[in-house]
Amino acid sequence: MKITEHTKKKGGRRYWTIQAESMEEDTAMGANMALLLSKWKKGEYRAWYTYDAQAALAIRNGWNCETSEEDEPVDDWRETRTALEHGDTVSAVDLRKAASARARELEPDRPRTAMSQTWSRDELAAYVLDGTAPAGAPAAAPAPVKMIPAGTVSEPAWAPAAPPAVTTATPAAPPALGDLGAMLAALVEPYVKGAVDAETVRAIVREEAGIAPHRFEVVLPTGAVHAAGMQHAQFPKLVRRLGAGLHVMLVGSPGTGKTHACHAAASALGLSFHTTSVGAQTTKSDLLGFIDAHSKLVRTQFREAYEHGGVFLLDEIDAGNPNVLTVLNAALANGCCPFPDGMVDRHADFRGVAAANTYGRGGDRLFVGRNQLDAASLDRFVVLDWDVDERLETALTGNNDWCTYVQRMRKAAGSVRAQVVISPRASINGAKILASGDTWEEAEAEALWKGIPAELREQIKRAA
Ligand SMILES: Nc1ncnc2c1ncn2[C@@H]1O[C@H](COP(=O)(O)OP(=O)(O)OP(=O)(O)O)[C@@H](O)[C@H]1O
Ligand SMILES: [Mg+2]
Repeated sequence: MKITEHTKKKGGRRYWTIQAESMEEDTAMGANMALLLSKWKKGEYRAWYTYDAQAALAIRNGWNCETSEEDEPVDDWRETRTALEHGDTVSAVDLRKAASARARELEPDRPRTAMSQTWSRDELAAYVLDGTAPAGAPAAAPAPVKMIPAGTVSEPAWAPAAPPAVTTATPAAPPALGDLGAMLAALVEPYVKGAVDAETVRAIVREEAGIAPHRFEVVLPTGAVHAAGMQHAQFPKLVRRLGAGLHVMLVGSPGTGKTHACHAAASALGLSFHTTSVGAQTTKSDLLGFIDAHSKLVRTQFREAYEHGGVFLLDEIDAGNPNVLTVLNAALANGCCPFPDGMVDRHADFRGVAAANTYGRGGDRLFVGRNQLDAASLDRFVVLDWDVDERLETALTGNNDWCTYVQRMRKAAGSVRAQVVISPRASINGAKILASGDTWEEAEAEALWKGIPAELREQIKRAA
């Protein structure tokens, strides 16, 4: 899928053209339109290039849509037929292209997306060879689609007649994704064998719209593959840095998934995970351990990782007493550390990670309690910015309308420089409140605004 960003010469407005590069993508684009419509942002609009009947949906919804039949691969299917006749190996992609090209000549009304999506290799090959479609394949094309002619992509007329207004009030019954899913399922159904439920369609929508979160697999030097699943966009960097033996500090606002990512990175690397949350009361003994009244050594999470290997996360590092943290400096930089019962060598698989809400340069306006870290402590780490990953946030929330609303409020709060934190936890928790059957107002009050003065709240809503 080719996504190109443009800026209108007049007015500087941005828009995107999204072009299907395969039949499969074309089908998925049909689904994308509905989702993107639900994520419509003021002042932004997108244009679609597609080459199949799915465009009907776009036009119905007021989407800009442009046909680009000429972009469809027009390989000469005869070459593929000759290859098949000679018993040569033909790739699935070439088979689909050839079958589609042959259908264009032979039966222009045949829905070609359905062919490429649902026909087996043998069925496609039979069609290329002698034009025989499998029994039961729908032959009639959907109702003709009126396409907006090419060349009008950047004209204002392309904007939908009535883009959903950004209101300061509670969004009036935002389109439920469930309904869109059902609608899309109905649309796609004629093209596929078997039933497509709304969930499947939604998955396609998310994936192809580029708003699905990143899913990662970590391949270790041993060749072992670990499926890390859905993670923050910065996750691969974290794994690579740890893999390279570096100590890493993650810096980002609350709830962006720092703690979660460290745990996941440890699992991905096949290392145990240990953590200590630092606070004003954290002492040297909390990190290094101590000898108790019975002369017994009390071990710590840090000691476990240092001695036996593993990822140790020093969470909220900027909330701690900098003097205490300096005891770790030598431990992080050197090959050994003085514990209460003697020197201990650092295990080869020990990795230190720190998480912070600020850059350790003293509290900013929001985190006034945060301490300035000793420059030597900071110097031990490489720093990764850990901002909100909206794709991950949307996926974790499971409620597109609520999540979009929270994200919009977050941006608005930033634009009016409001000193508030609207973290992904507002999205996650609010969605849970809604899922439990409570109202949008309750979700806003309990998960989003949480005691933010009414005046500031209104100011943010007005800016949204
Ligand atoms: N990849 C993920 N998969 C599933 N859940 C996640 C993922 N990333 C984050 N979360 C969830 O999001 C929430 C916030 O994540 P987390 O506590 O790691 O954030 P944080 O950046 O450490 O926040 P803080 O700065 O407040 O400590 C948690 O409920 C966590 O379980
Ligand atoms: Mg945390």
